[in-house]
Amino acid sequence: MRLRLTLTYSALFLLAGSVLLGVTYGLVANSLSVNSAAAASLKASKYAVPASGVCSSSKVPAQQMARCKQQAQDSLLKAAAASAAAEQAQTLDHLLYYSLGALGLTVVTSAWLGWIVAGRALRPVHAITAAARRASEENLTERIALTGPDDELKELADTFDAMLGRLDAAFASQRRFVANASHELRTPLTVMRTAIDVTLAKPGRTQDQLEAMAAEVRDAVEHAEVLIEALLTLARSDRGVRGRELADLAVLAEDALDAASAAIKGRPVAVEARLRQGSTLGDPVLISRLVTNLVDNAIRHNVPDGWIRVETGTRGGMAFIDVANSGDVIPADSVPSLLEPFQRLSDRAGSPDGTGLGLSIVRSVVIAHHGQISVRERQEGGLEISVLLPGRAG
Ligand SMILES: Nc1ncnc2c1ncn2[C@@H]1O[C@H](COP(=O)(O)OP(=O)(O)OP(=O)(O)O)[C@@H](O)[C@H]1O
Ligand SMILES: [Mg+2]
Repeated sequence: MRLRLTLTYSALFLLAGSVLLGVTYGLVANSLSVNSAAAASLKASKYAVPASGVCSSSKVPAQQMARCKQQAQDSLLKAAAASAAAEQAQTLDHLLYYSLGALGLTVVTSAWLGWIVAGRALRPVHAITAAARRASEENLTERIALTGPDDELKELADTFDAMLGRLDAAFASQRRFVANASHELRTPLTVMRTAIDVTLAKPGRTQDQLEAMAAEVRDAVEHAEVLIEALLTLARSDRGVRGRELADLAVLAEDALDAASAAIKGRPVAVEARLRQGSTLGDPVLISRLVTNLVDNAIRHNVPDGWIRVETGTRGGMAFIDVANSGDVIPADSVPSLLEPFQRLSDRAGSPDGTGLGLSIVRSVVIAHHGQISVRERQEGGLEISVLLPGRAG
Protein backbone atom coordinates (compact mmCIF):
# COMPACT_ATOMS: atom_id res chain seq x y z
CA MET A 1 0.00 0.00 0.00
CA ARG A 2 2.89 2.34 0.82
CA LEU A 3 4.43 1.67 -2.59
CA ARG A 4 1.07 2.06 -4.31
CA LEU A 5 0.44 5.38 -2.57
CA THR A 6 3.93 6.61 -3.46
CA LEU A 7 3.53 5.59 -7.10
CA THR A 8 0.11 7.25 -7.23
CA TYR A 9 1.45 10.49 -5.71
CA SER A 10 4.37 10.50 -8.16
CA ALA A 11 2.24 9.66 -11.19
CA LEU A 12 -0.21 12.44 -10.31
CA PHE A 13 2.65 14.84 -9.73
CA LEU A 14 4.22 13.86 -13.08
CA LEU A 15 0.87 14.31 -14.83
CA ALA A 16 0.22 17.72 -13.28
CA GLY A 17 3.83 18.81 -13.94
CA SER A 18 3.67 17.66 -17.58
CA VAL A 19 0.41 19.51 -18.16
CA LEU A 20 1.88 22.66 -16.60
CA LEU A 21 5.02 22.26 -18.65
CA GLY A 22 3.02 21.73 -21.86
CA VAL A 23 0.91 24.81 -21.26
CA THR A 24 3.96 26.95 -20.40
CA TYR A 25 5.84 25.65 -23.43
CA GLY A 26 2.89 26.38 -25.74
CA LEU A 27 2.43 29.90 -24.39
CA VAL A 28 6.14 30.71 -24.62
CA ALA A 29 6.38 29.25 -28.16
CA ASN A 30 3.37 31.25 -29.26
CA SER A 31 4.58 34.55 -27.84
CA LEU A 32 8.10 33.93 -29.20
CA SER A 33 6.82 33.35 -32.74
CA VAL A 34 4.78 36.60 -32.67
CA ASN A 35 7.74 38.54 -31.25
CA SER A 36 10.28 37.04 -33.63
CA ALA A 37 8.15 37.93 -36.72
CA ALA A 38 7.95 41.52 -35.46
CA ALA A 39 11.69 41.59 -34.65
CA ALA A 40 12.52 40.21 -38.11
CA SER A 41 10.51 42.89 -39.94
CA LEU A 42 12.00 45.56 -37.65
CA LYS A 43 15.52 44.35 -38.40
CA ALA A 44 14.74 44.18 -42.11
CA SER A 45 13.40 47.72 -42.18
CA LYS A 46 16.41 48.96 -40.17
CA TYR A 47 18.90 47.59 -42.72
CA ALA A 48 16.69 48.27 -45.76
CA VAL A 49 18.23 51.67 -46.69
CA PRO A 50 21.88 50.59 -46.34
CA ALA A 51 21.10 47.48 -48.36
CA SER A 52 19.51 49.47 -51.14
CA GLY A 53 22.82 51.42 -51.35
CA VAL A 54 24.33 48.28 -52.93
CA CYS A 55 22.23 48.92 -56.07
CA SER A 56 22.65 52.74 -56.26
CA SER A 57 26.35 52.84 -57.27
CA SER A 58 26.11 51.26 -60.75
CA LYS A 59 24.77 53.11 -63.80
CA VAL A 60 21.90 50.78 -64.54
CA PRO A 61 18.48 51.72 -65.76
CA ALA A 62 15.91 52.71 -63.17
CA GLN A 63 13.80 49.56 -63.73
CA GLN A 64 16.70 47.22 -62.96
CA MET A 65 17.62 49.36 -60.02
CA ALA A 66 14.15 48.92 -58.52
CA ARG A 67 14.32 45.12 -58.97
CA CYS A 68 17.77 45.03 -57.38
CA LYS A 69 16.49 46.99 -54.40
CA GLN A 70 13.52 44.65 -54.07
CA GLN A 71 15.79 41.55 -54.19
CA ALA A 72 18.11 43.09 -51.59
CA GLN A 73 15.11 43.85 -49.39
CA ASP A 74 13.72 40.29 -49.75
CA SER A 75 16.99 38.56 -48.98
CA LEU A 76 17.44 40.84 -45.99
CA LEU A 77 13.96 39.93 -44.73
CA LYS A 78 14.63 36.20 -45.23
CA ALA A 79 17.94 36.38 -43.40
CA ALA A 80 16.34 38.29 -40.51
CA ALA A 81 13.46 35.76 -40.32
CA ALA A 82 15.90 32.80 -40.37
CA SER A 83 18.01 34.27 -37.59
CA ALA A 84 14.89 35.01 -35.49
CA ALA A 85 13.62 31.42 -36.02
CA ALA A 86 16.98 29.99 -34.98
CA GLU A 87 16.96 32.15 -31.87
CA GLN A 88 13.37 31.05 -31.06
CA ALA A 89 14.22 27.38 -31.54
CA GLN A 90 17.23 27.70 -29.29
CA THR A 91 15.19 29.44 -26.55
CA LEU A 92 12.47 26.78 -26.76
CA ASP A 93 15.05 23.99 -26.66
CA HIS A 94 16.61 25.48 -23.54
CA LEU A 95 13.19 25.90 -21.96
CA LEU A 96 12.34 22.27 -22.72
CA TYR A 97 15.61 20.80 -21.43
CA TYR A 98 15.63 22.80 -18.21
CA SER A 99 11.92 22.20 -17.56
CA LEU A 100 12.25 18.45 -18.18
CA GLY A 101 15.28 18.32 -15.90
CA ALA A 102 13.46 20.24 -13.16
CA LEU A 103 10.37 18.06 -13.61
CA GLY A 104 12.44 14.87 -13.30
CA LEU A 105 14.13 16.18 -10.18
CA THR A 106 10.88 17.23 -8.52
CA VAL A 107 9.22 13.90 -9.44
CA VAL A 108 12.05 12.01 -7.75
CA THR A 109 11.87 14.35 -4.73
CA SER A 110 8.09 14.00 -4.55
CA ALA A 111 8.39 10.19 -4.75
CA TRP A 112 10.85 10.23 -1.85
CA LEU A 113 8.67 12.58 0.21
CA GLY A 114 5.57 10.57 -0.76
CA TRP A 115 7.28 7.38 0.48
CA ILE A 116 7.98 9.05 3.85
CA VAL A 117 4.48 10.59 4.15
CA ALA A 118 2.76 7.31 3.17
CA GLY A 119 4.88 5.46 5.72
CA ARG A 120 3.82 7.88 8.45
CA ALA A 121 0.17 7.79 7.43
CA LEU A 122 0.17 3.99 7.43
CA ARG A 123 2.00 3.57 10.74
CA PRO A 124 -1.30 3.14 12.71
CA VAL A 125 -2.31 0.41 10.25
CA HIS A 126 0.78 -1.55 11.30
CA ALA A 127 -0.20 -1.06 14.95
CA ILE A 128 -3.72 -2.36 14.19
CA THR A 129 -2.34 -5.34 12.23
CA ALA A 130 0.08 -6.21 15.03
CA ALA A 131 -2.73 -6.01 17.61
CA ALA A 132 -4.96 -8.21 15.44
CA ARG A 133 -2.12 -10.75 15.16
CA ARG A 134 -1.55 -10.77 18.90
CA ALA A 135 -5.26 -11.08 19.68
CA SER A 136 -6.29 -14.63 20.39
CA GLU A 137 -8.84 -16.31 22.57
CA GLU A 138 -6.32 -16.35 25.43
CA ASN A 139 -5.19 -12.78 25.00
CA LEU A 140 -7.90 -10.24 24.30
CA THR A 141 -6.84 -7.79 26.97
CA GLU A 142 -4.45 -5.73 24.84
CA ARG A 143 -5.76 -2.58 23.18
CA ILE A 144 -4.30 -0.43 20.41
CA ALA A 145 -5.26 2.82 22.26
CA LEU A 146 -4.18 4.92 19.28
CA THR A 147 -3.42 8.54 20.11
CA GLY A 148 -3.35 11.39 17.65
CA PRO A 149 -5.78 13.29 15.47
CA ASP A 150 -9.38 12.24 15.27
CA ASP A 151 -9.15 10.80 11.76
CA GLU A 152 -10.31 7.69 9.92
CA LEU A 153 -7.46 5.53 11.24
CA LYS A 154 -8.17 6.57 14.84
CA GLU A 155 -11.81 5.68 14.26
CA LEU A 156 -10.73 2.27 12.88
CA ALA A 157 -8.42 1.67 15.86
CA ASP A 158 -11.13 2.69 18.34
CA THR A 159 -13.66 0.43 16.59
CA PHE A 160 -11.16 -2.41 16.74
CA ASP A 161 -10.56 -1.77 20.46
CA ALA A 162 -14.31 -1.78 21.08
CA MET A 163 -14.61 -5.07 19.17
CA LEU A 164 -11.79 -6.59 21.23
CA GLY A 165 -13.61 -5.43 24.37
CA ARG A 166 -16.82 -7.11 23.25
CA LEU A 167 -15.01 -10.32 22.29
CA ASP A 168 -13.17 -10.32 25.62
CA ALA A 169 -16.46 -9.94 27.50
CA ALA A 170 -18.11 -12.64 25.37
CA PHE A 171 -15.27 -15.14 25.89
CA ALA A 172 -15.14 -14.36 29.61
CA SER A 173 -18.89 -14.90 29.92
CA GLN A 174 -18.60 -18.14 27.93
CA ARG A 175 -15.83 -19.39 30.21
CA ARG A 176 -17.91 -18.45 33.25
CA PHE A 177 -20.89 -20.24 31.74
CA VAL A 178 -18.93 -23.44 31.09
CA ALA A 179 -17.44 -23.37 34.60
CA ASN A 180 -20.86 -22.79 36.19
CA ALA A 181 -22.56 -25.43 34.03
CA SER A 182 -19.89 -28.01 34.91
CA HIS A 183 -20.24 -27.16 38.57
CA GLU A 184 -24.03 -27.41 38.45
CA LEU A 185 -23.89 -30.71 36.56
CA ARG A 186 -21.32 -32.15 38.94
CA THR A 187 -23.46 -31.44 42.00
CA PRO A 188 -26.18 -34.08 41.35
CA LEU A 189 -23.47 -36.59 40.41
CA THR A 190 -21.72 -35.93 43.72
CA VAL A 191 -25.03 -36.32 45.56
CA MET A 192 -25.65 -39.68 43.83
CA ARG A 193 -22.15 -40.97 44.48
CA THR A 194 -22.24 -39.96 48.13
CA ALA A 195 -25.66 -41.56 48.62
CA ILE A 196 -24.49 -44.81 47.01
CA ASP A 197 -21.12 -44.91 48.80
CA VAL A 198 -22.57 -44.14 52.22
CA THR A 199 -25.28 -46.78 51.87
CA LEU A 200 -22.98 -49.45 50.48
CA ALA A 201 -20.46 -48.75 53.26
CA LYS A 202 -23.00 -49.82 55.84
CA PRO A 203 -22.38 -53.52 56.61
CA GLY A 204 -25.91 -54.53 57.52
CA ARG A 205 -27.86 -52.21 55.22
CA THR A 206 -31.58 -52.61 55.41
CA GLN A 207 -34.20 -52.53 52.68
CA ASP A 208 -35.36 -49.09 53.96
CA GLN A 209 -31.87 -47.68 53.72
CA LEU A 210 -31.52 -48.96 50.16
CA GLU A 211 -34.87 -47.47 49.22
CA ALA A 212 -33.94 -44.10 50.79
CA MET A 213 -30.71 -44.16 48.79
CA ALA A 214 -32.63 -44.97 45.59
CA ALA A 215 -35.02 -42.08 46.25
CA GLU A 216 -32.09 -39.72 46.80
CA VAL A 217 -30.44 -40.88 43.58
CA ARG A 218 -33.70 -40.47 41.71
CA ASP A 219 -34.07 -36.85 42.94
CA ALA A 220 -30.53 -36.09 41.87
CA VAL A 221 -31.13 -37.64 38.44
CA GLU A 222 -34.30 -35.59 38.09
CA HIS A 223 -32.41 -32.42 38.96
CA ALA A 224 -29.71 -33.25 36.41
CA GLU A 225 -32.42 -33.88 33.79
CA VAL A 226 -34.06 -30.51 34.51
CA LEU A 227 -30.69 -28.81 34.30
CA ILE A 228 -29.77 -30.47 31.00
CA GLU A 229 -33.19 -29.71 29.58
CA ALA A 230 -32.78 -26.03 30.58
CA LEU A 231 -29.32 -25.95 29.00
CA LEU A 232 -30.71 -27.43 25.78
CA THR A 233 -33.53 -24.86 25.74
CA LEU A 234 -30.99 -22.08 26.25
CA ALA A 235 -28.84 -23.44 23.41
CA ARG A 236 -31.90 -23.73 21.20
CA SER A 237 -33.04 -20.15 21.82
CA ASP A 238 -29.45 -18.87 21.41
CA ARG A 239 -29.46 -20.45 17.93
CA GLY A 240 -32.39 -18.21 17.00
CA VAL A 241 -35.95 -18.79 15.88
CA ARG A 242 -36.48 -21.51 13.28
CA GLY A 243 -40.19 -21.70 12.37
CA ARG A 244 -42.56 -18.89 13.32
CA GLU A 245 -46.14 -19.53 14.31
CA LEU A 246 -48.88 -17.35 15.71
CA ALA A 247 -48.90 -17.38 19.50
CA ASP A 248 -51.20 -15.55 21.90
CA LEU A 249 -49.52 -14.54 25.15
CA ALA A 250 -52.93 -14.48 26.90
CA VAL A 251 -53.53 -18.16 26.09
CA LEU A 252 -49.97 -19.13 27.06
CA ALA A 253 -50.24 -17.23 30.37
CA GLU A 254 -53.52 -18.94 31.16
CA ASP A 255 -51.96 -22.34 30.43
CA ALA A 256 -48.98 -21.51 32.65
CA LEU A 257 -51.27 -20.42 35.53
CA ASP A 258 -53.33 -23.60 35.12
CA ALA A 259 -50.21 -25.76 35.15
CA ALA A 260 -48.98 -23.98 38.29
CA SER A 261 -52.29 -24.23 40.12
CA ALA A 262 -50.92 -26.77 42.63
CA ALA A 263 -47.99 -24.49 43.49
CA ILE A 264 -50.33 -21.48 43.74
CA LYS A 265 -52.52 -23.32 46.24
CA GLY A 266 -49.49 -24.75 48.03
CA ARG A 267 -47.75 -21.45 48.88
CA PRO A 268 -50.49 -19.91 48.79
CA VAL A 269 -50.41 -16.77 46.57
CA ALA A 270 -53.27 -14.58 45.35
CA VAL A 271 -53.41 -14.38 41.56
CA GLU A 272 -54.59 -11.36 39.64
CA ALA A 273 -54.76 -12.04 35.90
CA ARG A 274 -55.68 -9.41 33.31
CA LEU A 275 -55.29 -11.37 30.13
CA ARG A 276 -56.06 -9.61 26.86
CA GLN A 277 -55.04 -10.89 23.47
CA GLY A 278 -51.37 -10.31 22.71
CA SER A 279 -50.54 -12.06 19.45
CA THR A 280 -47.00 -12.53 18.32
CA LEU A 281 -45.24 -14.58 15.66
CA GLY A 282 -42.51 -16.82 16.92
CA ASP A 283 -41.35 -20.20 18.07
CA PRO A 284 -44.35 -21.42 20.12
CA VAL A 285 -42.26 -23.77 22.28
CA LEU A 286 -39.78 -21.06 23.22
CA ILE A 287 -42.45 -18.41 23.85
CA SER A 288 -44.43 -20.83 25.97
CA ARG A 289 -41.23 -21.56 27.94
CA LEU A 290 -40.71 -17.80 28.42
CA VAL A 291 -44.20 -17.35 29.86
CA THR A 292 -43.93 -20.45 32.07
CA ASN A 293 -40.57 -19.32 33.49
CA LEU A 294 -41.92 -15.87 34.37
CA VAL A 295 -45.06 -17.26 36.03
CA ASP A 296 -43.11 -20.00 37.87
CA ASN A 297 -40.58 -17.47 39.19
CA ALA A 298 -43.35 -15.15 40.41
CA ILE A 299 -44.90 -18.02 42.39
CA ARG A 300 -41.67 -19.65 43.56
CA HIS A 301 -39.70 -16.55 44.63
CA ASN A 302 -42.61 -15.15 46.61
CA VAL A 303 -43.46 -14.79 50.28
CA PRO A 304 -46.22 -16.82 51.99
CA ASP A 305 -49.62 -15.19 51.43
CA GLY A 306 -48.12 -13.03 48.71
CA TRP A 307 -49.64 -12.12 45.37
CA ILE A 308 -48.80 -12.28 41.69
CA ARG A 309 -50.17 -10.15 38.87
CA VAL A 310 -50.03 -11.32 35.26
CA GLU A 311 -51.08 -8.98 32.49
CA THR A 312 -50.98 -9.53 28.72
CA GLY A 313 -52.13 -7.49 25.73
CA THR A 314 -50.87 -5.21 22.99
CA ARG A 315 -48.85 -2.05 23.59
CA GLY A 316 -47.53 0.19 20.81
CA GLY A 317 -48.06 -2.50 18.18
CA MET A 318 -46.20 -5.11 20.27
CA ALA A 319 -47.52 -7.99 22.31
CA PHE A 320 -46.63 -7.72 26.00
CA ILE A 321 -46.62 -9.78 29.14
CA ASP A 322 -46.07 -8.06 32.50
CA VAL A 323 -45.53 -10.22 35.57
CA ALA A 324 -45.26 -8.66 39.01
CA ASN A 325 -45.11 -10.32 42.40
CA SER A 326 -44.57 -9.67 46.06
CA GLY A 327 -41.49 -11.12 47.68
CA ASP A 328 -38.31 -10.31 49.55
CA VAL A 329 -36.71 -6.93 48.91
CA ILE A 330 -34.19 -7.22 46.10
CA PRO A 331 -31.18 -4.83 46.00
CA ALA A 332 -31.35 -2.72 42.81
CA ASP A 333 -27.73 -3.44 41.86
CA SER A 334 -28.24 -7.19 41.79
CA VAL A 335 -31.24 -7.00 39.42
CA PRO A 336 -29.31 -6.96 36.08
CA SER A 337 -27.27 -10.02 37.10
CA LEU A 338 -30.44 -12.08 37.60
CA LEU A 339 -30.65 -12.40 33.81
CA GLU A 340 -27.21 -14.04 33.71
CA PRO A 341 -26.99 -17.86 33.77
CA PHE A 342 -26.75 -19.53 37.20
CA GLN A 343 -27.25 -16.27 39.08
CA ARG A 344 -29.54 -16.55 42.07
CA LEU A 345 -30.14 -14.06 44.84
CA SER A 346 -29.51 -16.53 47.61
CA ASP A 347 -26.26 -18.38 47.09
CA ARG A 348 -27.71 -21.75 46.43
CA ALA A 349 -25.52 -23.13 43.69
CA GLY A 350 -26.61 -26.65 42.94
CA SER A 351 -29.74 -26.32 45.01
CA PRO A 352 -32.45 -28.70 43.93
CA ASP A 353 -35.18 -26.04 43.77
CA GLY A 354 -33.90 -24.16 40.75
CA THR A 355 -31.25 -24.27 38.06
CA GLY A 356 -30.73 -20.49 37.87
CA LEU A 357 -31.29 -20.62 34.10
CA GLY A 358 -34.96 -19.52 34.00
CA LEU A 359 -34.40 -15.80 33.41
CA SER A 360 -31.43 -16.44 31.08
CA ILE A 361 -33.75 -18.50 28.91
CA VAL A 362 -36.35 -15.69 29.03
CA ARG A 363 -33.76 -13.14 27.91
CA SER A 364 -32.40 -15.42 25.20
CA VAL A 365 -35.92 -16.07 23.82
CA VAL A 366 -36.64 -12.31 23.86
CA ILE A 367 -33.41 -11.59 21.94
CA ALA A 368 -34.14 -14.39 19.45
CA HIS A 369 -37.53 -12.79 18.74
CA HIS A 370 -36.13 -9.23 18.57
CA GLY A 371 -38.20 -8.23 21.59
CA GLN A 372 -37.41 -6.21 24.72
CA ILE A 373 -37.22 -7.13 28.38
CA SER A 374 -37.11 -4.90 31.44
CA VAL A 375 -36.71 -6.06 35.03
CA ARG A 376 -37.41 -3.74 37.97
CA GLU A 377 -37.28 -4.45 41.67
CA ARG A 378 -40.30 -3.38 43.72
CA GLN A 379 -39.56 -1.16 46.70
CA GLU A 380 -41.97 -3.15 48.87
CA GLY A 381 -40.27 -6.37 47.78
CA GLY A 382 -40.59 -8.64 44.79
CA LEU A 383 -40.02 -8.06 41.12
CA GLU A 384 -41.72 -6.60 38.05
CA ILE A 385 -40.75 -8.05 34.69
CA SER A 386 -42.05 -6.72 31.41
CA VAL A 387 -41.52 -8.45 28.07
CA LEU A 388 -42.41 -6.97 24.69
CA LEU A 389 -42.48 -9.18 21.60
CA PRO A 390 -43.05 -8.00 18.04
CA GLY A 391 -46.74 -7.92 17.17
CA ARG A 392 -48.30 -10.27 14.67
CA ALA A 393 -47.24 -8.07 11.73
CA GLY A 394 -43.74 -7.41 13.12
N1 LIG B 1 -40.35 -13.06 40.15
C1 LIG B 1 -39.28 -13.03 40.95
N2 LIG B 1 -39.37 -12.48 42.18
C2 LIG B 1 -38.30 -12.46 42.99
N3 LIG B 1 -37.09 -12.95 42.67
C3 LIG B 1 -36.95 -13.52 41.46
C4 LIG B 1 -38.03 -13.58 40.54
N4 LIG B 1 -37.60 -14.18 39.42
C5 LIG B 1 -36.30 -14.49 39.64
N5 LIG B 1 -35.91 -14.10 40.84
C6 LIG B 1 -34.54 -14.25 41.40
O1 LIG B 1 -33.68 -14.41 40.31
C7 LIG B 1 -32.96 -15.65 40.40
C8 LIG B 1 -32.77 -16.23 39.02
O2 LIG B 1 -33.98 -16.65 38.48
P1 LIG B 1 -34.01 -17.80 37.42
O3 LIG B 1 -35.40 -18.02 36.98
O4 LIG B 1 -33.00 -17.52 36.41
O5 LIG B 1 -33.47 -19.06 38.24
P2 LIG B 1 -34.25 -19.94 39.29
O6 LIG B 1 -35.67 -19.53 39.32
O7 LIG B 1 -33.49 -19.88 40.55
O8 LIG B 1 -34.09 -21.37 38.68
P3 LIG B 1 -34.87 -21.99 37.41
O9 LIG B 1 -33.81 -22.17 36.39
O10 LIG B 1 -35.40 -23.26 37.89
O11 LIG B 1 -35.88 -20.99 37.00
C9 LIG B 1 -33.82 -16.49 41.29
O12 LIG B 1 -33.03 -17.45 41.96
C10 LIG B 1 -34.42 -15.49 42.26
O13 LIG B 1 -33.49 -15.21 43.27
MG1 LIG C 1 -36.76 -19.47 37.57
